[in-house]
Amino acid sequence: MDLFEKLQDRPSPLGEFTSEGYGYYTYPKLEGPLGPVMKFNDKDVIVWSINDYLGVGNKEEVLKYDAEAAAKYGFSAPMGARLMTGNSDQHEALEKELADFVHKPSALLLNYGYQGIMSVIHALVDRNDFLIYDELSHACIVDGKQLAMADKSVFKHNDIESFEKQLERAHRNKKPNSSILVVTEGAFGMTGDLGILKEIIALKEKYPFRLLVDDAHGVGTMGKDGSGTGTHLGCQDGIDIYFGTFAKAFALIGAFVATEERVVEFLKANTRSQIFAKSVPMPIVESARKRLKLIQDHPEWREQLWENTNKLRQGLIDMGYNVLPAECPVTPVLTEGSTELCQLIMRKLREEHGVFVSGVAYPVVPKGTVLIRLIPTASHTDEHIEKTLKGFEAIKDVVFASASEKKKMTA
Ligand SMILES: Cc1ncc(COP(=O)(O)O)c(C=O)c1O
Repeated sequence: MDLFEKLQDRPSPLGEFTSEGYGYYTYPKLEGPLGPVMKFNDKDVIVWSINDYLGVGNKEEVLKYDAEAAAKYGFSAPMGARLMTGNSDQHEALEKELADFVHKPSALLLNYGYQGIMSVIHALVDRNDFLIYDELSHACIVDGKQLAMADKSVFKHNDIESFEKQLERAHRNKKPNSSILVVTEGAFGMTGDLGILKEIIALKEKYPFRLLVDDAHGVGTMGKDGSGTGTHLGCQDGIDIYFGTFAKAFALIGAFVATEERVVEFLKANTRSQIFAKSVPMPIVESARKRLKLIQDHPEWREQLWENTNKLRQGLIDMGYNVLPAECPVTPVLTEGSTELCQLIMRKLREEHGVFVSGVAYPVVPKGTVLIRLIPTASHTDEHIEKTLKGFEAIKDVVFASASEKKKMTA
């Protein structure tokens, strides 16, 4: 059978979402300057779907700096991979600044977070090793696991007993030259809960292992100084390899891992997606340095983010919505219902209330549940929050009617 013909019938992981609504439910276009209010289908909407947590991406100072860096360097240089011709003093300076920021001895810049962490996982473990990861890990960890040659096992999300069971199994089966790598997230991007890092780290004494934490959603937002979920939980030292991306609080592209110098040296020579791919362009590197400085100099942006998060969350809870007990700014609202309900909620909020949210249904979440995820940022105002809450109040009947209908049907 022709491969292209076969693809027509192959189901997509996004299920029913992709079969209709291109440009609306999938691949929508948010236009105009980045910010809490953008244009969608030519109408202003309050946006709760982008990870510019601190509002860095729409700061005038940042936009000016970006333009100057682009004019100074252009977007091409440095050409080539870091290892060959793609290195610069600025790349190295950024690495030093990132390492200091997250309280680690050394850091390695990655041109993309997704490919970067996949390659890091692949490089770290070999066929004698064991790789243990949380079942709700981001796709990049799951794909990294596919690449890895190690023996792999998964533990139930944030379940310490399940984790210990896997750890104990690895210890029982290991050879003298086997090592164990554990991978989890700092702040989980869909559910908003934090990884049980302290509990995981506490088991190191009983069963020695190394811990890699993907803190994509925590870097810049968590911890008093923004240095992430480990700092927030008081266990940054127990994280052996810290991963952060620029794709969220930095509102940029690129990422990094921070760890001991000897591990960075190893990764520099073994991380295939970095060795065989172009390095980060100079204006991005310069802008990342600027954004990092701003994130460090403006703790009040983090405070504002938390204030907005708490107001939004409390408002939704007061109305009777089931807001998952998230511990980072991600605000997930869970309800019972079908893909159709998920689409109806998004459509009603967008069309009738000028509120842009993203939702997911089966197969991203279990069948019969709908998850609407709101991402508050420091640049949302009280007015944005109030208008959004009014929208949620207005659609309550639709949301709750569907849930009670479902209950009746399953009773
Ligand atoms: C938890 C997590 N890890 C890794 C990534 C990938 O990072 P990047 O967008 O820098 O490739 C993302 C998404 O951005 C993420 O949410």
